[in-house]
Amino acid sequence: MQNDPLCYLNGEYGPLSQAKISVLDRGFIFGDGVYEVIPVYAGRPFRLPHHLARLQNSLDAIRIDNPLSEPEWDKVIQHITKTNGDGDQSVYVQVTRGVARRDHSFPDNTPPTVFVMSSELVAPSRDQVEQGIEAITLQDIRWLNCHIKAISLLPNVLFRQAAIDAGANEAILLREGQATEGAASNLFLVKDGVIITPPKSSKLLPGITRDLMVEMAHQHGLPLQERDIDEAELRGADEIWITSSTKEVMPVLRLDGEPVGTGTPGPFWQTVYELYQGLKQDLRSGRAS
Ligand code: PDD
Repeated sequence: MQNDPLCYLNGEYGPLSQAKISVLDRGFIFGDGVYEVIPVYAGRPFRLPHHLARLQNSLDAIRIDNPLSEPEWDKVIQHITKTNGDGDQSVYVQVTRGVARRDHSFPDNTPPTVFVMSSELVAPSRDQVEQGIEAITLQDIRWLNCHIKAISLLPNVLFRQAAIDAGANEAILLREGQATEGAASNLFLVKDGVIITPPKSSKLLPGITRDLMVEMAHQHGLPLQERDIDEAELRGADEIWITSSTKEVMPVLRLDGEPVGTGTPGPFWQTVYELYQGLKQDLRSGRAS
């Protein structure tokens, strides 16, 4: 990865250090925009159609017309990642409602701001994942449009920092006694041989990694239920994992200072972790997309 990688801003490519937007950008002023994070392995984006479909849903939800077609997004992402090197990368895509005089209502005839960059993606090593992570629980005080991948992430930032301040790595969120997701991840648990994850709703982000876990479980005959998880069930879980495009699937080994299950990575986690690594290998060698 280069020191000053290439990025894309409003139709032009240039070095990241030189990319500038107006202070009147509604992303800056209101957090009025949406984003995506897409992993790219050996130059091949992982589940790009799924990420672009979610971007479309987020844009529709906040009423911004998609500024690029799927082939155009693909071209920009390919160009940036090819230029920025061979290693694994995480592509960040952001679309805001553009630059306008500060006024809460939508501006007329204002083109959206479109920004794409990539950074090095270092997946946690096998040793690191086997160490697992610690999580704390926090009340999920976010709005009820958490399915939109909005750039206004203040609650998520505060949740994650509270976890770090408590000596943990992630916060698992509880809304009215039910676990929803992590500060920047989705939630799975295992109880008595069944994998459980909360159903998709406006209370959580429909994670691309989450959907992949569900697909893999179905394909490989692992019992999985998409249903609500209450706090007692979370605390009594045999295994807890969190998933995201950058963290993949990580076992949570302590929750609020207490061991989860045996306090070591469980057999279901081992299975899905191996399956995920296999998919990455297939993608790298051009056997999958
Ligand atoms: N975040 N839930 C939230 C609130 C998230 O922010 C994320 C990912 C996920 C997992 O989604 P996916 O599997 O599609 O990455 C769930 C990204 C990685 C981020 O904000 O950097």
